[in-house]
Amino acid sequence: MATVADLIVVSNRGPLSFQLGDEGRAQLAGSGGGLATTLQPLVAGRDATWIASSMSEADHLAASDGLMNVDGMTVVTVRLDADTYRMAYDVVSNATLWYCHHHLFDLPRRPRFDVHFVDAWDAYVSMNESFADEIARLASQGATVLVQDYHFALLGKLLEASRPDLRTVHFTHTPFGDPSALRVLPANCASELLEGMAGFGACGFHAPRWKAAFDACYHEDDLTALAGSGVAPYSFVAPLGPDPVALENEAAESTGIDPALERVVGERMLILRVDRIELSKNIIRGLFAFEELLDEKPEWRDRVVMVALAYPSRESLADYLAYRSEVEHTVERINDRFGTDSWTPIVFNVADDRSRSVAAYMEYDVLLVNPVRDGLNLVAKEGPFLNRNDGSLVLSREAGAFDELKSGAFGINPFDVTETAAALHGALGLDRDERAERARTLKKLVVARTASDWMEDQLRIAGSLER
Ligand code: F6P
Repeated sequence: MATVADLIVVSNRGPLSFQLGDEGRAQLAGSGGGLATTLQPLVAGRDATWIASSMSEADHLAASDGLMNVDGMTVVTVRLDADTYRMAYDVVSNATLWYCHHHLFDLPRRPRFDVHFVDAWDAYVSMNESFADEIARLASQGATVLVQDYHFALLGKLLEASRPDLRTVHFTHTPFGDPSALRVLPANCASELLEGMAGFGACGFHAPRWKAAFDACYHEDDLTALAGSGVAPYSFVAPLGPDPVALENEAAESTGIDPALERVVGERMLILRVDRIELSKNIIRGLFAFEELLDEKPEWRDRVVMVALAYPSRESLADYLAYRSEVEHTVERINDRFGTDSWTPIVFNVADDRSRSVAAYMEYDVLLVNPVRDGLNLVAKEGPFLNRNDGSLVLSREAGAFDELKSGAFGINPFDVTETAAALHGALGLDRDERAERARTLKKLVVARTASDWMEDQLRIAGSLER
């Protein structure tokens, strides 16, 4: 059993993920990816306990054998039965709260909250209760508990009841749905969510807009009527930054762009995008914008290649599979339309391969980051940090990172294909001096905050909470 901890970090995904191998043994499948990868070096060396979900049977076996423990950290996993976890993670966290916070609902058709959703919400409550029990069991008196993301909105109230001595901070890595978005949820879910979060000592966000949307929910009588006192918790803004040392190491180890890709791009300019295959990332409008660029500014034909490096994501959700296939068809159609024997306009490459992305970051001419809505978007910071080619950034005004990077980026409305095409044209056409000047500005903005600044902010705020 893990010993009692003064610092506990909670996230759904743990630092490592496992799969079942020969003879039913757990084998390492890779790093947790996304947030978990960012958290790992920040948590290491602090004598912390990290509590995460057993996302699969293999994760559970690995955790029981101590294989989850990395960098001297104790990793404890919470195991729910498979159906409860699927409902809490897929149905509530990914297909409901994620959509709510990113404004992804297709309102004429979905969501449809029916009796099955009632069961799914019960599963979400049960997941939060299981984590609350585990935290209560492992936390020392007055311990700091840093909770990550929408999977655990209810933990604040649960811990306030069971362990009022704890210093609890919740950090939301997504945007936060404003009052009108929360009104789409069943009334009891919206109020339980707000009440749950009000129990944390503090709630953090990557951008002022998401904090404002969160605070606003506590000023709406209909939302708070059912939510206990309706008093907003203390909230704060602390954007995540890149980890300069880790990125420099990755750059030093990079063996460059894959030769096959290098051959396709050749001497042409490179527009890069790097995303999970995720509805909020707006990959399809990005492709349409590239098509409009080739239509309206034919001088770019055969002079530029768009490389879309995509990471598979949430493939248990039908929407995500359908989205991937729509992306693939759009790429195929545009390539059929414009491609020649010697020029492939778009390369769409799906793999869970970080070193491939690092090599491409170093060389792009233009990085396109156009999410419909995004909590921060670390690609928009890591790309300019790693780039060695005075590349430009075309960035959605709906990404949390826009707030910090706007003076160095080409800002776009992500729904406006024509504006995106014009920004690509502007960025590709910059002269050498302008490119260099913009790249310098961007890099200065990017390094203004690092990943450890973000961590220290949470620890400082936790330390200042009265208990
Ligand atoms: O940024 C929000 C987030 O949920 C992160 O916690 C995570 O790294 C990423 O999205 C990917 O989500 P998932 O862990 O569900 O694949």
